[in-house]
Amino acid sequence: MCGIVGYIGTKNTKEILLSGLKELEYRGYDSAGIAVLQNGIFSSYKAVGKLINLEMKTKDFKTEGFALGIGHTRWATHGKPTELNAHPHFGENSCVVHNGIIENYAELKRELQTDGVTFLSQTDTEVIVHQFEKNQKESNNSFEAFTKTIKDIHGAYAILLATKGESETLFFAKQGSPLLIGINDVNEKYFASSDTPLIGQCSDVTYLEDGDYGYVTPTKIALFDKNGAEKETKFVALSQNKLLAQKEGYRFFMEKEIYEQSRVISDTLMGRAGKDEILFDELDSSLFDGINEIKLCACGTSYHAAMSASYLFERYAKVKTSIEVASEFRYRKPIMTKDTLFVVISQSGETADTLETLKMAKAAGLKTLVICNVDNSSMVRLADASILTRAGIEKGVASTKAFATQITVFWMLSLYIAKLRGSLSQEETASHIDTLRKVPSHVKVSDEMHERIKRLSKRYLHGHGFFFIGRDIFYPLALEGALKLKEISYLHAEGYPAGEMKHGPIALADPTLFTIALLPKHLLYEKAKSNVEELSARDSTICAISQIPFDKADDFVEISACEHYMLEFFEMMVVVQLLSLEISIRLGNDVDMPRNLAKSVTVE
Ligand code: AGP
Repeated sequence: MCGIVGYIGTKNTKEILLSGLKELEYRGYDSAGIAVLQNGIFSSYKAVGKLINLEMKTKDFKTEGFALGIGHTRWATHGKPTELNAHPHFGENSCVVHNGIIENYAELKRELQTDGVTFLSQTDTEVIVHQFEKNQKESNNSFEAFTKTIKDIHGAYAILLATKGESETLFFAKQGSPLLIGINDVNEKYFASSDTPLIGQCSDVTYLEDGDYGYVTPTKIALFDKNGAEKETKFVALSQNKLLAQKEGYRFFMEKEIYEQSRVISDTLMGRAGKDEILFDELDSSLFDGINEIKLCACGTSYHAAMSASYLFERYAKVKTSIEVASEFRYRKPIMTKDTLFVVISQSGETADTLETLKMAKAAGLKTLVICNVDNSSMVRLADASILTRAGIEKGVASTKAFATQITVFWMLSLYIAKLRGSLSQEETASHIDTLRKVPSHVKVSDEMHERIKRLSKRYLHGHGFFFIGRDIFYPLALEGALKLKEISYLHAEGYPAGEMKHGPIALADPTLFTIALLPKHLLYEKAKSNVEELSARDSTICAISQIPFDKADDFVEISACEHYMLEFFEMMVVVQLLSLEISIRLGNDVDMPRNLAKSVTVE
């Protein structure tokens, strides 16, 4: 996700902006830029890649005396990581930085282009500054124009906008993406996406709420709520602990990223989940012409996402789907046919084994697609097409929100392909989309659920192993739960199809074999329940996760009443993520940096 900084004051504005962006590097980015307005003149610099490139470009640029400035680190969601797409984006006399997604940007862009506006970038953000200037011409009052612009755009945003005619004013708006205002005792005003750039500069901070907008000058902060009523700015003392600020108060990045799943899934859906159809701007439907099979290839958690996708693709798109572990596929001398769409899945886009299989598929003349979280990564650059998961940077080695957004993309992609193949009616698609839109609320972590799992975890710190079992799409989720636990607790865990118990594994059943049983109400419940009863009858210790109470379980984690098995999937995903997190914490492990592991396995 992107990072924003802003400043109004008399210090060295350029340095303040650059150091603020440096404090936001932990959020991940692929380009950066600043703009300074001083004496009615804008100076702006942008660079692709790391901040050092921007620092090099601005080394001869000096700012002394009063100025205002905005800065931005970009995590690409619309448009490649290029200088042209880097923020700030300019109109004729204004510029803007933005974190989030403007859902109706395409329609606004068409209207503005019809009015003769020329766009320089591929971004959704650029519509904000052109829409503002259109409104400014009509109202001749900058704040009115800004207010109207905020009403015109839909989606998630944290915005800072500056315009030449108001050389002491920064306009701001917040909806869905974080934005803070910091102050100090020398009358400076700071803006940032999180606490870290403000630490050491500000004594107090206010955390803007969704719908807040307004403007700041050297002497005034004018804050309005979503109904346009002016409101008081409530400041609180700013924490001075940078690492804690980066984790935003969570104990580990992994914990923070589990809590972020709700918001990032909303971002993943934004602009793609229409009323009764799925839209992928980044895809040309011709990619699927002549395709009779989809082969999904990945490693680790991404492989579990691929396996989950295979159930959705065959069930809804009615397309033959196969899955491959990349490290096996690359040496197996596989038969590849050109009617197969080769899909690689990778959070990092750099995993060596997966990258090699992509090269093999391309060499064999197959059409290729990558589902990835990092734009401009090796796989994104190599594949014929790519879909970004928009999870934002994932710092915990154990993948959570990347997996959640991969599943979300695959569910949407199954509906997209179903439409191309005519295998789902419009009503069925609309019903799926209604359910998709409920996912963010179903993955919100409730305090009572988290407390429940924290208490439960004390019982699972030993034992001679864990079975995670599930049927159908809950089998890859069982594999994922087992991997999460292994990765960060170092306890042995295996994921199994629930129906496999009697084919050997049940020999292990005893009170210190812990079974985590995924029992969805809406998918093969009775079948899975009887598998669990086989284990319970042999005295295995059972922890059942379900919306239906299960009296033969030793522990029971109740999920909410879901009307669709995919909502049960996402809720159970959060439960197994939290369970591995809390067990690992009790064992005193480094949750974010588990032993022997790397975030991206770029060697085989
Ligand atoms: C998942 O928690 C692990 N970090 C690991 O299995 C990871 O999913 C795997 O290495 C693949 O990484 P990628 O998604 O970046 O390709």
